[in-house]
Amino acid sequence: MKEQLQAILTEVENAIPGIVKRSDFEAFKATISGPKGKLTDILKGMKNVPKEDRPAMGKLINEYKTQIEAFYTQALENLDALELAALIGPPIDPSLPSPDPAPGLLHPLTQTRRRMDDVFRKIGFTVAEGPEVETEWFCFDALNTPEDHPARDEQDTLFMPEDAKMGNVSKRGEERYILRSHTSTVQIRTMLAEKPPLRIISPGRVFRRDTSDATHSANFHQCEGLYIDREVTIKDLKAVLDYFVAEIFGKGSKVRLRPSFFPFTEPSFELDMMTPNLGKLSNQWIELGGCGMVDPKVFDAVGINSGKWTGFAFGMGVERIAMILHGIDDIRHFYNNDLRFLRQFA
Ligand code: PHE
Repeated sequence: MKEQLQAILTEVENAIPGIVKRSDFEAFKATISGPKGKLTDILKGMKNVPKEDRPAMGKLINEYKTQIEAFYTQALENLDALELAALIGPPIDPSLPSPDPAPGLLHPLTQTRRRMDDVFRKIGFTVAEGPEVETEWFCFDALNTPEDHPARDEQDTLFMPEDAKMGNVSKRGEERYILRSHTSTVQIRTMLAEKPPLRIISPGRVFRRDTSDATHSANFHQCEGLYIDREVTIKDLKAVLDYFVAEIFGKGSKVRLRPSFFPFTEPSFELDMMTPNLGKLSNQWIELGGCGMVDPKVFDAVGINSGKWTGFAFGMGVERIAMILHGIDDIRHFYNNDLRFLRQFA
């Protein structure tokens, strides 16, 4: 009897590793433990065993049965693992190059902004940042913009809702939060955080209550500039802008400063550019932004001694520069995420 049981156990042990299909396993198991299986036969033979031998015999059979069932469990685990591997497929090699033939590219506005950053960095400007959600003080008051200035009108500036459900985010003290309408806010933040001399640019997103058309968008980008030192003059402003347009638009490009008004600069100018290098757009004045000498009242607002320090500031539209550079006729192209447009800037 013991030899028979040992023979069955050996058979099971040898067969299990070769079984790779669930149906093969079931068929094999039936030959051992099925109604007509070898092990079942032995159990059936128990009735012919003398009564006194039965307990010892039963114990022996049970021991073998337990071992055989352990092999079954092992076989089922092997099958589970094989089926999972088949489902997952062959292993991948993460060190192989991507099969995607179209590489990603930077958005044309990002490319333009980086070009502008690079030009200013070469002449000692660093990049400063400020938040897009601002208070009226940073956006207007500190920039010498009176309470009744049209830019502060709800028609022009986007105010955060008074009853914002997100806690008390719509106000700081008595001041309402707004979406900044220009990057000049960063002039104020920089002057409060650092001592002159200062030389920063600040590219970033701004928001206005504009209806979108070919040349307007409710959000667009500006690049602010602020230069503070002793005895800074309009000549310094002009020299920086001349350098900038020559670097961006090529040799022979010129700057024109046209008298204008901004509350935070005195005198103030519109900044125009003309270049011989731009096909249809060549040899005509194109407006890029505004600029001027920092108004002493701004220095007063941030506690800088206006007897000692002088400076200039400028603000330029990033979309405007990208449109001129690439001959783009509609600002909305930048925001539509149409790959046919974007892929042209690879
Ligand atoms: N902030 C002004 C605008 O958005 C531009 C500007 C910046 C003018 C700095 C002068 C100095 O129109």
